[in-house]
This record gives sequence, structure tokens and C-alpha cells, in this order.
Amino acid sequence: MKIETTLHSRIRTMDFDNIIFGNHYSDHMFCSEFKHGKWMNSIIKPFGNIILSPISLVFHYGQAVFEGMKAYKDKKEEVFLFRPKENFKRINRSAIRLEMPSIPENIFMNGLIKLIDIDRNWIPKNYGQSLYIRPFLIATKGVLSAKPSEEYMFMIISTPADSYYKHPLKIKIEEKYSRSSLGGVGFTKAAGNYASSFYPTRLANEKGFDQVLWTDSSTHSKIEESGTMNVFFWLKNKLITPKANDNILSGITCKSIISLAKEEGFYVEERELSVLEIIEGIQTGILKEAFGCGTAAVINYFKLISYKGTNFYLPNLPEKERISIFLKKKLLDIQHNLSVDPFGWRIKLKKIL
Ligand code: PLP
Ligand code: COI
Repeated sequence: MKIETTLHSRIRTMDFDNIIFGNHYSDHMFCSEFKHGKWMNSIIKPFGNIILSPISLVFHYGQAVFEGMKAYKDKKEEVFLFRPKENFKRINRSAIRLEMPSIPENIFMNGLIKLIDIDRNWIPKNYGQSLYIRPFLIATKGVLSAKPSEEYMFMIISTPADSYYKHPLKIKIEEKYSRSSLGGVGFTKAAGNYASSFYPTRLANEKGFDQVLWTDSSTHSKIEESGTMNVFFWLKNKLITPKANDNILSGITCKSIISLAKEEGFYVEERELSVLEIIEGIQTGILKEAFGCGTAAVINYFKLISYKGTNFYLPNLPEKERISIFLKKKLLDIQHNLSVDPFGWRIKLKKIL
């Protein structure tokens, strides 16, 4: 792999006390090209614009998939990645579904490890802060026919991150629009899944909600996920999350929370979950908490859930009684190397360069 480091680092312009998610980019980026059936030209170079033909397939037919992962620092400023192989496997599941080539493991992992090593100064130091890493794969061949591209670009960029949501969330159960349907691409991180969520999300935002809670496209009676988060409900002393299916992105944070909660002795169920069960749970008081989780969002609890025009308020528990806050700390402690990692999730990045 070729490495061209910048002579003009922007690190001094970065205000780590005022991190706005996605607004600042680290000094370098990784690129690898797929041409003539082969991966080639892997390079780390200064972050900058790329040139593509206006007829590149990504612009017209949306052949684009991405990932989201994070790097953390501990108190000694050692650097750790969290479960990167899971993101590697998931980007290839997404790529296969969108008829794109799989990325070889050595290209993904070497590019990632070297890039984060070179840009380690961009990883914020505080608890809960991190460097958000965005690998993505796009169709670059310039041809207008509606067929899969013969050329692709895989890139990795990164952005310092603090908490994504600053307050408990108000959620609207979606009854008209849907994010995905059986047999579709809901289980992938296809860029188009996000584009199609923007309009219903704006409508919900205009009514004062932070996010929509997606339901199944045919009956709108089963809970799926919310915004860029998988969801959990603390119902009758059971932690319940919708079982991942074609419609739901199988979240790495969600999987980690399931393992952590089981390890802590909580009873966890992954199963179909109906909207009525949630609403009745709030009305009868057996639903104590609901929360969303994801790489960017980490864990955020819900303050209210709205259904058919009625706002249902969740119990206003103190943070020390919340399972969401308890699990968030467990997760962050592992990510920041503050506790033992019985699962082997943390990957320490040795200083290479
Ligand atoms: N669901 C959607 C639609 C997402 O975009 C994300 C974020 O990546 C998640 C769930 C959570 O997945 P993960 O925990 O792997 O970030
Ligand atoms: C993530 O949590 O990694 C996401 O994909 C969220 C992102 C779309 C901001």
C-alpha cells in the first residue's frame, strides 16, 4: 500500500471541546480501486476531493454501501478499535446484496489500521468521545445503463465524535412510511435506505419528535428500529429487542448489548414485538424503559413514544435506576479499556508509523 502523508496537518484547527458530528475530517483517507475484476491502487493520502464522471453509476442507480465504527483512547492514550471484523463482514453482506464486489479482508483491515494509526491524533481523549470511522464502497464506472458497475472505489474516512444525541428522545411510531420490506435491502447499510428515511423523519421532526420508530411495511404493527438505532424495551423485567430479519440492520452495538446484558444476568429476548405490546406496557406501567443503540448514537433512552396522535410518556426514572445507563457505562468502559473485556471485542492498535 502506498502512503502519502500530509505536509499540512489541520489538527491545530480542530477544537476538541466543540465537536460537531460529521463536520470535521481527519488529515488522511484510504482509497482502493476495483477494476478489471481486481482490487488495486490501495493508498493512504491527504483527505481531499475525488474526481468522478457525472455518469458514474453511484449517482444514478445508488450502488453505494457504507459502515460506521469507532476508535477510542484509554487514559494512557493507547488506541482501540471495537469489533472491526463485524463491520468488515457487514459491508460485504451489504455489497453482495447490491451486486457489488466483496472487499478482501486484508484491504479492509490494513487500510483501516494504518489510517487510524496515522490519524491517531484525531481521536478525542475524553470518556464517551471517539473517532467515528466511515468505510464506504461506491460504483464509479461512467456508463448510464442500469446495470451493476464494473468499477468501484472503496474508501475510509474519519471524523471526531462526541455524543450524537444530547437529550432523551421523543419517538413517533411510523404508521404510513416504511424503511424496508421483506426481501428488500433493510438489513444492509445501503445509502438509499438513509435517503428514503429523510422525508418521513423530517415530517416527524416538524411535529417535535426526534426520530421515527419504524414498523413493518405491510401491517405497521410490528416494531423494527428507530433512525440509525436498534431498539430495546425493558418490559416486565425482560430486556426485549426485535429479532433481526430482512428489514432490520443487525447492529453491532445491539449484539454487544445483548451479550453484556446476559453476562450481567438480565433476561434477554430477541423476538417479534408488537406496537400494542409497547403501548399497553406503557399504559399498565410494566414498560419501565425504552432505548435505542448504535455506533454513532451509543445508547439513548426514550422519553416519550407517540402513537396515532397520542403521546405516551415513559417513566421518569432517575439515571441510577436505568438499565440503559447501566449498560451504556458497561459498554463504554470496555471500549475505553477501563474494564476487562471478557468477549475479546477490543483490538489494540500498535503504533506502526
Ligand atoms: N440501524 C440502522 C438503520 C443504523 O444505521 C445503525 C447504525 O449503524 C444501527 C441500526 C446500529 O448499528 P451499529 O450498532 O452496528 O452501529
Ligand atoms: C452509525 O451509527 O454508524 C450510523 O450509521 C449512523 C450514521 C448514519 C450517522
